[in-house]
Amino acid sequence: MKLCVVGTGYVGLVAGTCFAESGNDVTCVDNQVAKIESLRQGVVPIYEPGLEELIRRNVAEGRLTFSTDLADAVKKSVVCFIAVGTPSGDDGAADLSAVWAVGREIGRTMDGYRVVVTKSTVPVGTHRRLRDEVASTTTHPFDVVSNPEFMKEGAAIDDFMKPDRVVIGTESARARQIMHELYDPFVRTGNPVLDMDNASAEMTKYAANALLATKISFMNEIANLSERVGADVELVRRGIGYDRRIGHHFLFPGVGYGGSCFPKDVKAVIHTAHEQGMAFPLLNAVEEVNEAQKRRLVTKVLDHFGSDLSGKRFAVWGLAFKPKTDDMREAPSLTVVNGLLAAGATVAVHDPEALNEARRHFGDRVTYSRVNYDTLQDADALLIITEWNEFRRPDFPRMKQLMRRPVIFDGRNLYEADVMRAQGFTYFPIGRAVVRSQA
Ligand SMILES: NC(=O)c1ccc[n+]([C@@H]2O[C@H](COP(=O)([O-])OP(=O)(O)OC[C@H]3O[C@@H](n4cnc5c(N)ncnc54)[C@H](O)[C@@H]3O)[C@@H](O)[C@H]2O)c1
Repeated sequence: MKLCVVGTGYVGLVAGTCFAESGNDVTCVDNQVAKIESLRQGVVPIYEPGLEELIRRNVAEGRLTFSTDLADAVKKSVVCFIAVGTPSGDDGAADLSAVWAVGREIGRTMDGYRVVVTKSTVPVGTHRRLRDEVASTTTHPFDVVSNPEFMKEGAAIDDFMKPDRVVIGTESARARQIMHELYDPFVRTGNPVLDMDNASAEMTKYAANALLATKISFMNEIANLSERVGADVELVRRGIGYDRRIGHHFLFPGVGYGGSCFPKDVKAVIHTAHEQGMAFPLLNAVEEVNEAQKRRLVTKVLDHFGSDLSGKRFAVWGLAFKPKTDDMREAPSLTVVNGLLAAGATVAVHDPEALNEARRHFGDRVTYSRVNYDTLQDADALLIITEWNEFRRPDFPRMKQLMRRPVIFDGRNLYEADVMRAQGFTYFPIGRAVVRSQA
């Protein structure tokens, strides 16, 4: 099948590449000339495990091309995916201007039947307005399909190739059939393709992300309460996870959620509820808890060192909003590093993939290290923000030697208390007892 994917970001690039991998002819379109140019030269603008190799293969075999020419791509394609960004506006509503612009452009250039698919996360009702936008510039027939994406950054290829489920929202039998043909190769192992109306498909994506964000905020509150009452949240987590009604996923306490999806999608659901005359107090609380949680590590640092951190030096490991990505959108590390700097501290940062991104945020206000140990020289404490695997078994004696004081604030509970005690560290985890070094 010939398709185009408009918006070559995390979602569009992964989706386009995976559709090419299953034998389709795919044009990935973006209006950022530099991004398309670099992709044409084989330089992948984002870090996503396995993606570069897959792009290289599909480009070499002629199934995947990159273009800034939307009109040309639409003319060649039966199915047009819209995967542009839908960021939060000032009022929390999703900014859909790029979706409308692309919809009108597709209408203007299509020369026969097209399936116009929203892959971007869009509020309930978007399909109706998109239909109007496309119809305002064409007389050719078309259908609008709502096909939300559930991939996780860091495991996006796997998620796309073997999705838990595919959601296809449309009232059109013709479009439904085309979408099933397209997705059949990805659900050979029997995971379902769920057909539904457009509104339910749009709602499904927001409900999924809002529920996951709720789980995170819930566990962070349980962690904060555990600290106060002397319970160990890691034991509590296991204790509830074995209950099959609850399950083990998304129960890890930490420094709050970030990324390009949860913060904006929670805001968008609240906004949609308000538009419908409904308050959504649960999600307001989820947001409020998350904002407080992002400041939690800095609060612990200030409680330990006092409110003036001038003359103090801190090492920060992990800047991406989660491991295996370079994405720092709404990352808790931004709140943490800015909080330390605001209190007068000197900060040295390390992340295995996100240092380029970090430079855009922090400029020359921090120092950057490609090697995690280099941040520790004369540090008064280490803060761990992202649970990259390479941080799980570090060389503690070496760390202790480098640091001015052996103090760790661990936002991800990577280490065990007895190890920290044996190694002589003062250790502040989340939702567990503090270990105080005897030194
Ligand atoms: N990132 C994720 O893990 C994820 C997962 C599921 C769903 N989503 C949703 O998918 C959508 C895209 O997210 P993303 O993370 O890929 O965003 P992104 O910012 O990485 O990519 C969006 C791309 O769209 C391009 N673009 C914007 N306007 C355009 C236009 N008019 N014409 C052509 N290109 C245009 C941008 O240049 C950019 O490259 C969002 O709605 C997001 O909520 C994201």
